[in-house]
Formats: sequence, C-alpha cells, structure tokens
Amino acid sequence: AHLLSLLRAAPKAELHIHIEGSLEPELIFELARRNGIVLPYANVEALRAAYAFTDLQSFLDVYYAGASVLITEADFDAMAWAYFERAARDNVVHCEIFFDPQTHTARGIDMGVVIRGLDRAAKRAEAELGLSVRLILCFLRHLSEDDALATLEAALPYRDKFIGVGLDSSERGHPPEKFERVFARAREQGLHLVAHAGEEGPPAYIWSALDTLRVERIDHGVRCVEDPELVARLARERVPLTVCPLSNVKLCVFDDLGKHNLPALLAAGLRVTINSDDPAYFGGYLNDNFVQLFESLPQLTAHDAYTMLRNSFEGSFVDDEDKALWV
Ligand code: ADE
Ligand code: ZN
Repeated sequence: AHLLSLLRAAPKAELHIHIEGSLEPELIFELARRNGIVLPYANVEALRAAYAFTDLQSFLDVYYAGASVLITEADFDAMAWAYFERAARDNVVHCEIFFDPQTHTARGIDMGVVIRGLDRAAKRAEAELGLSVRLILCFLRHLSEDDALATLEAALPYRDKFIGVGLDSSERGHPPEKFERVFARAREQGLHLVAHAGEEGPPAYIWSALDTLRVERIDHGVRCVEDPELVARLARERVPLTVCPLSNVKLCVFDDLGKHNLPALLAAGLRVTINSDDPAYFGGYLNDNFVQLFESLPQLTAHDAYTMLRNSFEGSFVDDEDKALWV
C-alpha cells in the first residue's frame, strides 16, 4: 500500500499516449453536438458499451469513429488540454504525445488546424501546469508510404512544433520497412524516430524498425521475448520500450495483468517504461496503469518502480541538460 501511494505521487514522464485516445465519451458527444456531427452511437452509454475489444483492429474502428468529431483548432486544443490536466493529476511532469494527422486530413481538416490546436494546449500546459510537452507525428501504417510522405511534407511548415515521427495503426501486414523512405526523410529533417512494433506483430517487425527505420524507441515491443537474440540486442543497446499494460489487456495481447510479461522484460535488463496508450478507451490513465500493474504482479518491487520511472525520463527526447534535472 505504501508502494502504491509512492507510485501515485512520483514524478513521471509519459512517452506513449495517442492524444486522440484521450478523448473521453462525454467530450466526443459535446464536440459532435457543437459540430453537428451524427455519431453511430445513440449516447455516451452506447459508445462506452462499444469499448469491448477483441484485438487491435476492433479498437481502431471505434477510435477513428470517435476522432471524427474533431473539426476546429479549438476542438484539438480542448482534447489536448483535457489530457494535460488529467496527466498533471497523475504527477506526469513531461509527456511526448502522439497525434495521427491523416485521420483528420483525410476528412478535409487542414494540417495547420490540427497542429496549431495541439500546440496551443501544449503551451498553456507548460505555462499553467508546469508540464513539459512535446508532439510526435504518427503515420498510419494501413495507408500507403506515398500518403505518409505527403503528410510529412504538409507538416514541415510546422517543423518547430513537433520533435519526431512515429508509426501506428494496424500492425499486422504492414511491416516497418514499408515506410523506409519516409523515415529517412524525417531523419534528414533532424526529427526523432519511433515506431509501434511487436504489439500484435512478430519480432521481425522490431528488427526492421531498428535496422530499416533506425528508430530510437520501440512502442510496445512486448513480443520481443519470442526472439532471444533480439532481447539481447535491445538490452545491449538500451532501447527504450514504451509498454502499455492496460492497453495490452484490453486488446487481448495478454489475458490479464497478472499474465503480463513485463517482469520478464525487466529481468532481461530491458529499458521498460509504463504508459497509457489510449487512456479514454482502455480504462485508465498513467497512475491506473502503474497501480493496477503492481497490484496484479506482487513480485514487482520498489526498485522496479524506480527503474521504470527513471527509464521514462532517460528514454525521453528532452535535452541532456534537462534530463539531468530529473534523474
Ligand atoms: N493507435 C492508437 N493506439 C494504438 C495502438 N495501441 N497500436 C497501434 N495503433 C494505435
Ligand atoms: Zn500506441
């Protein structure tokens, strides 16, 4: 019980949160009303009832429907601000938030509307909550690489407002190497690189994220344990893994938190961090992830907690001088 209250109170960095996945049903309906959008769900309860997922794709279908209510700069601002306020209550002091511009530009929303709205909320969070915020633009891997290249070009006028690019959406059948050129282009721009790999997809996708895309962190990565040589490499190179425990259970990657392989990842010396992924959909924000994980896996120690909290700062993309203030 003492450890759980320490976990809640500890300062932490969140490195894997899709801002569209922080959109709560109440805000979805408020924005739908404001924008005159008719949702395929009658009310908040009916929408919440649809949050019974069997795999990643069954979640993504609901998640993209929810994001369809975002139209104006003020909508993106409101969504991000709600997350920042909630994260600050969990003692998050630094966050690197993913956003999926193609989900919006495909509906005719301008790239500038998306980025300016998120940036406005981020600046306010820095000023009013003392929260340090960075944005990471994610490409949707179920779409083509040409679409991703056009998306990166459309975002470059806002280059100063995001620090990196990532890769998300339907993993199976869309290996990282499909995006080799767009990641090379992002690297030329001095952007940081991350990719979802080894959530539902095989260890081979983690290898190609590292070797073909040259990413600095792996999002999820839990299936690395199927390949001992890969585990050894991740440990040797100290590659951060942004693990999302509640997400993994909701998307049926593991049957329950007690069966999560996080203890094995830690035992292998991997640089594991804990994150919320899509907190409005998966039943909890960052402290819920920490607390429920530690309640379900009593073998986890205070030392493990400290290691993962420290990893969250060390694995972040802030400058080394800023890191030194935290760790
Ligand atoms: N988009 C939002 N959440 C995601 C996840 N867990 N995996 C892949 N794409 C996502
Ligand atoms: Zn994710």
